[in-house]
Amino acid sequence: MCGIVAYIGKREAYPILISGLKRLEYRGYDSAGVALLNGHLNIYKKAGKVADLEAHIADSNVEGSIGIGHTRWATHGPPNDVNAHPHCSEGNKLTLVHNGIIENYDTIKKELIARGHTFISDTDTEVLVHLIDEIQENSKVPLEEAVRLTLTQVIGAYAIVVISKDEPDKIVCARKSSPLVVGIGKEEYIIASDATPIIEHTRRVVYLDDEEVAVIHKDSGLQIKDLENTYKTPYVQELEWQLEKLEKGGYEHFMLKEINEQPQSILDSFRGRIDIENNQIILGGLNGYEEAFANAKRIIIVACGTSWHAGLVGEYLIEDIARIPVEVEYASEFRYRNPVIYEDDIVIAISQSGETADTLAAIKLAKQKGATIFGICNVVGSTISRETDTGCYTHAGPEIGVASTKAFTAQLTVLSLLALYMAKQRATITDDEFQVLIKELNEVPEYIKESLKCEEQIIEISKQYMDVSNFLYLGRGYNFPVALEGALKLKEISYIHAEGYPAAEMKHGPIALIDKNMPVVVVGTNKSAYEKIISNVQEVKARDGQIIAITNEGDDELDSIADHVIKVPKCLEQFSPMIATIPLQLLAYHIAVLRECNVDQPRNLAKSVTVE
Ligand code: G6P
Repeated sequence: MCGIVAYIGKREAYPILISGLKRLEYRGYDSAGVALLNGHLNIYKKAGKVADLEAHIADSNVEGSIGIGHTRWATHGPPNDVNAHPHCSEGNKLTLVHNGIIENYDTIKKELIARGHTFISDTDTEVLVHLIDEIQENSKVPLEEAVRLTLTQVIGAYAIVVISKDEPDKIVCARKSSPLVVGIGKEEYIIASDATPIIEHTRRVVYLDDEEVAVIHKDSGLQIKDLENTYKTPYVQELEWQLEKLEKGGYEHFMLKEINEQPQSILDSFRGRIDIENNQIILGGLNGYEEAFANAKRIIIVACGTSWHAGLVGEYLIEDIARIPVEVEYASEFRYRNPVIYEDDIVIAISQSGETADTLAAIKLAKQKGATIFGICNVVGSTISRETDTGCYTHAGPEIGVASTKAFTAQLTVLSLLALYMAKQRATITDDEFQVLIKELNEVPEYIKESLKCEEQIIEISKQYMDVSNFLYLGRGYNFPVALEGALKLKEISYIHAEGYPAAEMKHGPIALIDKNMPVVVVGTNKSAYEKIISNVQEVKARDGQIIAITNEGDDELDSIADHVIKVPKCLEQFSPMIATIPLQLLAYHIAVLRECNVDQPRNLAKSVTVE
C-alpha cells in the first residue's frame, strides 16, 4: 500500500530515491513521484510505474541531497499525475509523501476550505500538508513541531515524510499503523517503508513506533519524540537480509525465482528448529510461553489472503496431531464482530509482511481481551512482529512477487513445527510417531525439489487452458486449503476467474458450472481422502469437465480418468500441502506469462495491505 523512500545526506538523492522506489514498487505501482530540495523545491509526478516517472524527468533538474519519493496504490482518487505524491502546500513551501488513510480527512478538508485553502487533488493526503503549513504559519514553530501538532488532530493510519524549502537541512517523518524505517548510514539517512531500499546503503536501522515523530537533521542526526512531545531513545538494529536476495538472480520474474527458492526457504524456515537426535522441536519464541501453550483450550488464527489459507492448513495440523480446537478467522471479520476471546486463548497472527492493517487490528483487539498473541511473520522487525507477545519468524527471505509463494510454504513449515511442539507437550502422539513426523518434515525440501520438475508438463497444460474464463479447484482435508490457494494464485496473476472448493461440496452448487469448457484442478495427494476424491473426479468426468489431477507417484487410479496427471513425491499427509501447492503455483505462473500479464505486479493488487 504505497512505498515511501527519502534521503538526506551528502550524496545526490535522486538515484537513491529511484532505485529505492523500484524496490518498493511491490507495495503499489499506479503512479509515482519525487521531490528534491536544492534551494528550490523540484517536484515530479507521473501516473504509471517508477520507470515512467524516470522517463518523464529524464531531462529535468534532479539535483539535491535531500529528497522524498513515493509509489502509490490509490485509495482516494484515481491514479493520475495530480493525485500522485508528493503533495504540496499552497506556495510550494512544504511537500510530503504519505502511506495510509486519513479517516477524518473530509472534516479537516472542509474546515481548511472554510479558512481559505484550495485543494487540487482528490487525496486524503493533501489535508496533511495544508494543516502542517497552516500550523507553522500561525505558530511559527519548527517543522517537526508543526507535524506533531497536525498529527494530534488526525484519525487514521499514516507513514509520512515531510520536507520544507524554509528548513532545508532536515527531514521530518512520522508513523502510525503504516511502517517506516530509518536507515543510518555514514553522514546520511535513508527513510523507507521497509528495509529493502536501505540495505544497499547501510545495515543499521531504527524502526519507528506508532505515534512517533522523527526529525533527521543533516548535522545533528536523528531525534525522536512521541505525539505527547516526550523524547524517545532510538533503538538501532542490524539488518540480516542479503542484498542478492532482493535481485531476480537470472529468473524472468521474482515469482518464478521465489517458487524455485522453496527447497531452500523451507530449509531456512526449520533450520535449527528440528532436533532429530533428541526427538524435539526447538522454537525460541516459545521460551517463557510454554505454560500458556500447555494450558490453552483453544487457538484462534487470524490472517488475510494467502496467510489465511496457511492458517486453514494450520487448523488441520494442530487439531489432527495436537488435539487442540482451532478457529481460523479472516482478520477483517474477526476485528468487527465482537468475538468471544478468553484469557487462556492463544491467538496466532500469520502475516508475510507483518503490516496487514486488519491482522494488526485483530491482534490489538485480542491483546486487550488478555489472550496470548503469537506471530508468524516473514519480515523481521515488522509491526505485527513487534505487537505480538512472542512468535516465530518464517525466515523465507524477502518475497517481492505480489503473489505469495515461498512465504506460504514457510508459514506451513512454522505451523507444522508449532503443531508438533504442542503435540509433544500434550503427549497427543507417541515419541515414535513424533520421530516419524519430524524426519518427514526434514525431507520436505527434497520433495519440493522433485515436484519442481513438473514445470515442463505444466507449461504444456498452461498452453492448452490459457484462454479459458473459469477454473475450479477441488481438494479434501489437508488439501482443501491448497485448492483455495491454487485458485487464488490463478485469479491474482492471470485474471481468470477461479474458485476453490472442498471436493464433496461441489455437488451443492459448483457442479452446475461443469461442462466441456471447465477445467477442474483436483488436488489428490492426501491418502485418507484419495478414494473419495476419485468419486468426485468421476462426477466431473460424467459432465465432460476437463480434469487436471495432482497425485502422488504410485497412486495410479486417476491416470485413466483424468485428462492430465501431475505426479509429485509421496509424503505424509500432514505435510502434503507444501508439496501439492508447487504445481499450482507453476500453473498460475505459466498461464499468466502466456496471457502476457504482469506476473510480479498484478493489476489492482499490492503486496502489503496497510489499509483496511
Ligand atoms: C495481500 C497480498 C497477499 C497476502 C495478503 C496478506 O493481499 O497480495 O499475497 O497474502 O495481502 O498479507 P500478509 O502480509 O499479511 O501475509
